[in-house]
Amino acid sequence: MSRVVILMGSPRKGGNTDLLAQSFADGASKHNIVDIVSVTDYKVDPCIGCNACAKSEGNRCFQKDDMDKVYELLKKADVLVLASPVYFCGISAQLKAIVDRMHTPMRNEFSIKKVALLLVEGGNSSFEPILLQYQDILNHFHLEDMGRVLVTGAREKGEIKGKEALKEAYELGLSIQ
Ligand SMILES: Cc1cc2nc3c(=O)[nH]c(=O)nc-3n(C[C@H](O)[C@H](O)[C@H](O)COP(=O)(O)O)c2cc1C
Repeated sequence: MSRVVILMGSPRKGGNTDLLAQSFADGASKHNIVDIVSVTDYKVDPCIGCNACAKSEGNRCFQKDDMDKVYELLKKADVLVLASPVYFCGISAQLKAIVDRMHTPMRNEFSIKKVALLLVEGGNSSFEPILLQYQDILNHFHLEDMGRVLVTGAREKGEIKGKEALKEAYELGLSIQ
């Protein structure tokens, strides 16, 4: 049994990323403890690059906001799931703020060893910019890729319903031990 944290990066509750993350969680929770961090429930400011976290106890950020609650979940996690809508060819700003704030504790404090990626876009363009970034994160932190579910052509809220991707996300979640 693993502890899984899903960072659900869409501000649109009940939207496509939310539904995809929920499917993954439904599968993953059969054998694991799963927490979902939905970005609208947490107020997390962006990293300001002061590097105070490199010297502080527990690599804590000096900024006092809801990232403290996210840190508590991430500290217990073995598996991290990044779930995002595609915004201007990248991940959402809300998710990026959380990811950036993980930089120092990810290296020193966390015991996350495995990562999975869930992406949804309205069009049908390349996921390549995000996949390049994802691969660099895997390499840099020596993480194992558990899999990816990449969904195209889901623009309107809930348009993902009925797509095979929801089943794929469920199966990927189920494969996590
Ligand atoms: C600010 C913004 C930027 C977007 N940029 C892209 C994009 O670059 N490529 C694309 O295919 N879809 C883009 N979309 C569409 C979203 O990816 C799509 O609507 C997705 O389903 C949103 O996920 P959600 O329902 O979880 O919020 C964009 C949407 C927004 C709001």
